Amino acid sequence: MRENYYSALKHISKIANSHFGLRKICNSIAKSSAKAVQGDGCCILLLNPQKKYLVTVGAYGLSDFYLKKGPLDAHRSLPEILEGEIVFIADATKDERVQHPQIAQAQGISSILGVPILKKGEATGELRIYSREPRQFSKAEKSFLLSVVDICAVLLEKAELYQLLEKDYRASKRQIKYQVPQLPTNALRPTSFVHPSEEEFAKLLDFYRIEWLYEPRSFPLQWEGNEVVEGFTPDFYLPEMDLYVELTTLKQSLITEKNHKIRRLKELHPEINIRLLDKNDYTQLLAKYGYGPLGEAKVEGIDHVLYSHTQIQRRVRALAKRISQDYSGTTPVLVGILKGVVCFMSDLMQHLSLPVTLDFMAISYYGGDGQVVRITRDLDSSITGQHVLMVEDIVDTGMTLNYVLKHLLAHNPASLRVCTLLDKRTRRLVDVPIDYIGFEVPDEFVIGYGLDYKGEYRNLPFIGILHPEIMEEGESPDTPP
Ligand code: PRP
Repeated sequence: MRENYYSALKHISKIANSHFGLRKICNSIAKSSAKAVQGDGCCILLLNPQKKYLVTVGAYGLSDFYLKKGPLDAHRSLPEILEGEIVFIADATKDERVQHPQIAQAQGISSILGVPILKKGEATGELRIYSREPRQFSKAEKSFLLSVVDICAVLLEKAELYQLLEKDYRASKRQIKYQVPQLPTNALRPTSFVHPSEEEFAKLLDFYRIEWLYEPRSFPLQWEGNEVVEGFTPDFYLPEMDLYVELTTLKQSLITEKNHKIRRLKELHPEINIRLLDKNDYTQLLAKYGYGPLGEAKVEGIDHVLYSHTQIQRRVRALAKRISQDYSGTTPVLVGILKGVVCFMSDLMQHLSLPVTLDFMAISYYGGDGQVVRITRDLDSSITGQHVLMVEDIVDTGMTLNYVLKHLLAHNPASLRVCTLLDKRTRRLVDVPIDYIGFEVPDEFVIGYGLDYKGEYRNLPFIGILHPEIMEEGESPDTPP
């Protein structure tokens, strides 16, 4: 038996040190591991960058339908493994820690052993061994698998390092002026996407910080007896939107076929949210988000996206909910300072479940250091005795807000509170009270969603960081407006 483990480890170390791609190596490790402990199957799973889902990077002895059984929630599927424990499941069809017990039953899986892959003490993934017959795992088997996961951890570290070096090298070769940042999902990417549009779409999602999983689930559509004769695997799943996306930039005839499959899928699973993006939809989507040939100008100058459109919308909805509760039974006046607040004000008020009125002010800065403020447009209506909510896009030094609050208080409102989407707290010079904060942001030049650099970028649907090269010499986030 020891001889078995020795030769398996020898093979695994050799393959881990080979020039093959990560997926091929992981498949081979899964096979050697399963055979060495006489398991029927094995898979190697990694946490996605947001640490919410487990993604298969290598497998052996398991059907495609089992591997693509749906997004594997890291907090629901044997969560103790990611806390660093070895977990043994005697009967996968009955244990509530198993997320998809029916599929385990269909696959004929009884026992599972899960071993964490720890990188510098922190779980980044796991190796699972599957067995058709109910069984136990010996101390020697567990000890062997612990060595395998150690090799996996070193392998992953090496893959990440290689990707970083390669990215640097490619950037220097092409002398890219600015780079669209990538989330560290590279290790989880398929070695090759089936179609280049899929890779492009994945990059787009990365850029906008939209979480994605590639082909996590295969849906059986037709059976002959117990055998699945037709299935459908949508290209992407976007967990934030609970949406499956199937891309097609191919011929109309194929679109018709995919539409047929999607219709069938909706009949069988009405709860599934899925969209087929044809070439037009796809190009429009790219252009809408400033990506692709129609809208390159929109991302020129952005170093990276700080908050995606979806993240902003989610946060705005949460703020609106709180404000609606706090102001219940009143009709507050929302006061905004032009121009940066337009996007935020517009979205926020639409989510308020209250009657509100609106007013705007405009101010300008003058004086040698640009820090003396003056009101250039005052309120249209009196706020005396009214509940006033000041709405700001960003509070930076706090000078503007401090000045405006004093001005508003002088009109004796019934109450005065402040809501800002962004709080750049590290730059505060004047201590101002803020009641509702969307996001605390770093000391960087933020643009988009109303915020500008020299009048531009306000129309971006996301909040990004301006690339330092765009800023003129001597300018920094500390430069007064
Ligand atoms: C921004 C923002 C705030 C102010 C905050 O306006 O809308 O009103 O700066 O900065 P502070 O806390 O340092 O005073 P900006 O002057 O850029 O004008 P804009 O709204 O027209 O973009």
